[in-house]
Formats: sequence, C-alpha cells, structure tokens
Amino acid sequence: MKGIIKTVLLILTLDVATSAMTGIQLIPPYPVINGSVMLSITDSKYTVLGVAWYKGPRAEYEYQILVYFPESSALFPGPLYNQSSFTHFANGSLHIKDLQITDEGTYIVNILASKNVKEEMNVTLTLNGPVTKPMITASTTQPKENYPLILTCVISRAMLITWTKRGTRFSSETKLSGDNKTLTFSKIKREDSGEYQCEAQNPYHKEVSDPYSVNVAYGPDKANIEGTLFVRPGSPITLSCSAASFPPTDYQWKVNDKVSEEKTNKYSISNSVTEDQGIYTCVVRNLVTLRNATASVYVNMTAESIIPISNSSSLGLILGLAFAIILGVVLIIIGIICCWKYVTKRMNESSENRQEPLHVYENVKKGQPKEESFYMGLQSTAEDIYTELKP
Ligand SMILES: *[C@@H]1O[C@H](CO)[C@@H](O)[C@H](O)[C@H]1NC(C)=O
Ligand SMILES: *[C@@H]1O[C@H](CO)[C@@H](O)[C@H](O)[C@H]1NC(C)=O
Ligand SMILES: *[C@@H]1O[C@H](CO)[C@@H](O)[C@H](O)[C@H]1NC(C)=O
Ligand SMILES: *[C@@H]1O[C@H](CO)[C@@H](O)[C@H](O)[C@H]1NC(C)=O
Ligand SMILES: *[C@@H]1O[C@H](CO)[C@@H](O)[C@H](O)[C@H]1NC(C)=O
Ligand SMILES: *[C@@H]1O[C@H](CO)[C@@H](O)[C@H](O)[C@H]1NC(C)=O
Ligand SMILES: *[C@@H]1O[C@H](CO)[C@@H](O)[C@H](O)[C@H]1NC(C)=O
Repeated sequence: MKGIIKTVLLILTLDVATSAMTGIQLIPPYPVINGSVMLSITDSKYTVLGVAWYKGPRAEYEYQILVYFPESSALFPGPLYNQSSFTHFANGSLHIKDLQITDEGTYIVNILASKNVKEEMNVTLTLNGPVTKPMITASTTQPKENYPLILTCVISRAMLITWTKRGTRFSSETKLSGDNKTLTFSKIKREDSGEYQCEAQNPYHKEVSDPYSVNVAYGPDKANIEGTLFVRPGSPITLSCSAASFPPTDYQWKVNDKVSEEKTNKYSISNSVTEDQGIYTCVVRNLVTLRNATASVYVNMTAESIIPISNSSSLGLILGLAFAIILGVVLIIIGIICCWKYVTKRMNESSENRQEPLHVYENVKKGQPKEESFYMGLQSTAEDIYTELKP
C-alpha cells in the first residue's frame, strides 16, 4: 500500500516538473497594433538545443516560420519567415515587431532540449488596438411593449464591455451575452424607455458610445372623456378625450354612432341645440402598437326637462316654486346690496371672476360603443333653480 502511494507521488512530481519546464509567455501580456511582442519560452532547467516555430493550425512545414539551433547558430527560414519582423534568441524565444492584424493567430513551438526532452506548446496572439468608439445598434428602431429588443454594442478588440442606462438602473430583466456585446430585453416595458450607452475598455483605453434612445411604443389601454355632460341649449359643449400612449394616438369622434370630422382630442360645439343630445364616443388608435380604446359619454340637453313644469297642475309644487322664486328674489336683492357695498369698497377692481363648477364625468369601455355607453343621469338642483330664475 505505502509503495503504491510513493509511486503515485513520484509520477505526480515528475509530471509537474515536465509541465513546469516550459510555457510561452507573452511580453507584454496585451500587445498592441504597431507594437511588438516577445513569445518568451520560460525554461529555467534545460538548455534548448533546437527550436522550431510555426504559425497556423499544425506544426507542419507549410506553416513554419523558422528552425534554429542555438549552439551552432544555424537558422533555417521557413515559408512564413520575414527578416524584418522576426528575431530569434538562444533561449528559443521569438520576438515579433510592427505587429499587424495579420500577425494574430496561433503560434506553435517545438522544442528539443537537453536530456532528450521534447515539447510542443502553443500560444494565441490577439492584438489590442486602442479601442475605437463603440456604437449601439438595435434589433428594431421602434420597439413595442411586451416584445423583445436586442441592443448590440458594435466594437472590436474590447476586453471589457459594460452597459449603462443614463441616470438610472435597468428597469426590467435583461440578459447579457457572454462577451457583453448584446443586451436582450425579452419583453420590453414602457419603463425601459431611456438612453443607453455601452463602454468598451482594454488595458490602455476606454471609450463610451453615444447615448442610444429607446422609446418603447405602448398603449392605449383605456380612454377617458372629460367635459360638461349636462348642457343648456345655447351653451357650448366641450369634451376632451385622453389616453396614455406612445406615440400619441390619433382620435376619432362619433356622435350617436355617426363619425364626425373632428380629428383632435377635443370635441366642441359653441352654440348647442337640443338635437346635440346623445352619445359621444371617442376612439383612440396607436398606429404603431395597432391598439385602440374607446370611451363614451351621454350629453344631456337639460332645458327640455324643465319646460313641462309650467304645465304642472300640482298646486303644492306651484306654491313651492313660488316660495322658491320669492326666496330667490330676496337672496338676489341681498346679493346685489352686498355686491354694491363690495364694489364701492373696491372701486379700482372692475369685476370679479366667477367660475361655474365643472362637472366631470367619465366612463371607459372596450368593444362596441353601443353596448358600452353610460347614460349619465345626475341632476343638479342648483342648476335647476338657476334655470327657473332666468325667465
Ligand atoms: C499603425 O501605424 C501606422 C503607420 O504609422 C498608422 O497609420 C496607424 O494608424 C497605426 N495604427 C494604430 C492602430 O496605431
Ligand atoms: C530569452 O532571451 C531574450 C534575449 O536575451 C530575453 O530578453 C528573454 O528574457 C529571455 N527569456 C527568458 C525566459 O529568459
Ligand atoms: C494548443 O495547446 C492546447 C493545450 O496544450 C491544445 O489543446 C491545442 O490543441 C493546441 N492547439 C494547437 C493549434 O496546436
Ligand atoms: C515583412 O514584414 C514587413 C513589415 O511587417 C512587411 O512590410 C513586408 O511586406 C513583409 N514581407 C513579407 C515577405 O511578408
Ligand atoms: C459584463 O458586464 C458585467 C456587468 O456589467 C461585468 O461585471 C463583466 O465584467 C462584463 N464582462 C465582460 C466580458 O465584459
Ligand atoms: C381595434 O382593435 C381591435 C383588436 O384589438 C380590432 O379588431 C379593431 O378593428 C380595432 N378598431 C379600430 C377602429 O381600429
Ligand atoms: C336628462 O336629464 C334630465 C334631468 O336633467 C333627466 O330627467 C332625463 O332623464 C335625462 N335624459 C336622459 C336621456 O338621460
């Protein structure tokens, strides 16, 4: 048992000794274009008797740079030899100057050392230029919400690529490729809109791309109509339609199912008539997402409901109304007196701004406007009294 362990240990020790014998080291570790590099054979124990350098996939003659025997200084140039580029050394190392892109590749060395030690090793040479300014390209110029977007950092020879979103962190889950060149959003969200940059680095330089604007198209999910829904004939009707969407939606208005000419988010009639009563529908459409949403309101021309009151035979109601009118007149007289006092107090002020309260109702539907319309039946007492007092 002890014997076996000793043998294993001995084999391991020998193995380590053999593999530690040689190695190719690049000096400097990150050679650059127009620079030079030493393919240095690190060999402390053995004397190199002969060395053969190749550039290519295999240690074969067609890929041979040179064969060199230090003791006799015998040099045998191979097909790839170039006197102005390569310099050989007694310890087997190879120096290459005026490095160009074409010098990139795998270099193989066969070493014949003393004590019949033979070794084949290789090293891959890649050159680092000063990093150029990276550029961002996108899989689509108009990303849509819930669809994928892939951003690519276009750059060569960067050792490290990092991505940033200007001013913030990334909003949703992203995936980076192994070399960080691509940033993938599998389902981009509206919050992902913003300016993205990629930064490329090597040991000597660092360059940042121009910001790339991502504007995610989204919505509309729903539409809202705001405006006065109870209108006296002769007063204006003003409705306004809104929807969260990018790019902004286009608008269509329907009045009692008849498509109108109006193409903006506002629908207005300056001088309304009783026939303007009915269902007003706003259809919003996003031409990029191809989504649409609809909202409808009922505009009630309220004067019609007041006219029949004068025909009422109910004495109580008439008396009640008469009392209301008298009370109203008294209040108005008091009001006028107060106003007069106020006006005389403040002679410089020409008038006082008064704003009628705006009643805002909205309803929101999907599907066919006919099924979805809300009929707003709210009644305002204040408005009734006001209307009655007018004649
Ligand atoms: C390499 O040198 C050539 C000639 O001096 C020059 O034109 C070129 O820009 C240099 N390339 C780099 C990457 O420094
Ligand atoms: C091999 O020789 C060259 C030239 O004398 C020297 O610059 C280099 O450091 C040597 N390499 C090693 C591993 O000693
Ligand atoms: C380079 O060396 C590695 C490990 O030593 C080996 O797997 C690979 O095949 C070699 N490549 C060439 C081109 O000889
Ligand atoms: C040798 O290298 C120099 C500089 O790298 C180059 O100008 C020349 O064309 C090369 N000659 C051959 C035969 O490859
Ligand atoms: C990739 O990006 C991550 C995080 O930004 C960074 O930690 C890592 O070093 C980068 N890797 C490469 C190869 O650029
Ligand atoms: C609204 O979108 C639905 C599908 O979501 C489509 O069937 C319909 O035609 C669209 N309507 C308009 C007016 O674009
Ligand atoms: C319009 O409003 C009046 C009250 O102001 C109400 O009596 C009437 O039912 C409403 N009309 C419709 C169609 O909702």
